[in-house]
Amino acid sequence: MTGGAGGEHKLWGGRFDAATDALVEAFTASIDVDRRLYREDIAASIAHATMLARQRIISDADRDAIVDGLAAIRDDIAAGRFAFRADREDIHLHIEAALAERIGAPAGRLHTARSRNDQVATDLRLWARGACDAIAEQLRALRHALLLGAEREAETVIPGYTHLQRAQPVLLAHHMLAHEAALARDRARGAQARARRNVLPLGAGARAGVRYPIDREFVARELGFDAVATNSLDAVADRDFVVELHAAAALAMVHLSRIAEEIVLWSTTEFGLVRLPDAFATGSSIMPQKKNPDVAELVRGKSARVIGQLVQSLTLLKALPLAYNRDLQEDKAPLFDTVDTLLASLAVMAALVPALEFDRERGRATAVEGFALATDLADYLARRGVPFREAHAAVGALVARCERERRTLDALTLDELRAAHPAFEADALAIDLDSSLAARSATGGTAPAAVARELAAARARLAAEVEAAGRHA
Ligand code: ARG
Repeated sequence: MTGGAGGEHKLWGGRFDAATDALVEAFTASIDVDRRLYREDIAASIAHATMLARQRIISDADRDAIVDGLAAIRDDIAAGRFAFRADREDIHLHIEAALAERIGAPAGRLHTARSRNDQVATDLRLWARGACDAIAEQLRALRHALLLGAEREAETVIPGYTHLQRAQPVLLAHHMLAHEAALARDRARGAQARARRNVLPLGAGARAGVRYPIDREFVARELGFDAVATNSLDAVADRDFVVELHAAAALAMVHLSRIAEEIVLWSTTEFGLVRLPDAFATGSSIMPQKKNPDVAELVRGKSARVIGQLVQSLTLLKALPLAYNRDLQEDKAPLFDTVDTLLASLAVMAALVPALEFDRERGRATAVEGFALATDLADYLARRGVPFREAHAAVGALVARCERERRTLDALTLDELRAAHPAFEADALAIDLDSSLAARSATGGTAPAAVARELAAARARLAAEVEAAGRHA
């Protein structure tokens, strides 16, 4: 496709004598990317044409021809019957040109009181709104999987780490609910950005507003926007909602990467806490014994590009003068990719999490290794009035002794405990994994009773969201 003599006359070509250079045509075209906006573009055009007729700017007959023509074009595109061509630049010009072919003269009135600058900003906001709804739904699926996992593994114990060194045992359910809590914040972030995102740019025209008696509030209502943008320059220049979507998505991908990293670690022979299901692992072409956690690794790896695309969106806007500049065309491909990547990663994790097989026996056995109950021994002394620092030192000495003698803390006799601190009594020997867990019963702790309350609260929160989402739909 060239812009040479063979190409059709541009919709914007009135002041041009010569055809567009073929290189320029290829370089500036965005149709391969922005064709994804066709539904939003047509919805916005229908609302615009409806408003123009209500305001007596175009006739009802022209409106009817435009609305019917646009609906038919939407069906053609959806059915794959639409010809996309590089010499029609972008989705807006494609649809307008197709409309002219289909309905003739009335098509020429659609672009009254509007510019591609407020048009594209409107389309992209509509698209972002739908994307955020889809992300919220996929987030709910993964959160649901984590809640079911927490329920199923209510009694499973795992060693807990700080600095990736054995620290304190926790319930696996508590660990899963920690990841759910992060994803619940991702959902909240998406919802909070909605008020800023759901604002109508259309009516700003190219940058200064339009000289027709338009009714922007009507268009906003038709398209489900909560408000109209109140400054025409800002309306066409603002892509904060793109940056905010990238930022929220990048943080969500970072959360997924932390879950993924733990699946990678826990499925190693060294940790041995989880077995990967065959359906979610891949083999090696040379090492017959291998079963690799590629799904988790790819989720971890894909977080990099979403973070990169957040930086791209910020850099795109940095120092860009008001208002619209063609640079802004570069906002779309990374945004689409970020949303696609996040949705795919959420979907695969929501399928992987329920398929993980945890080694409950090994979890329980390794949970107390590495002196993981040392804090409980120190707490024992502190409860008997020993200053915590003194208790810490005494138990530290016991740990050092055990290490020297290659023994574990629970093998120490009462006499040996008392040699480290005289406040130890016989009941200190009763400290074990279950008492350690049960003692952490304040809100937010890992005691089975506290985790059961945490799970119930998370379930209620998710159920309320599902209900609210159903009401909006
Ligand atoms: N394809 C363009 C974009 O995505 C649409 C707006 C073009 N506006 C213009 N004045 N050339 O930004």
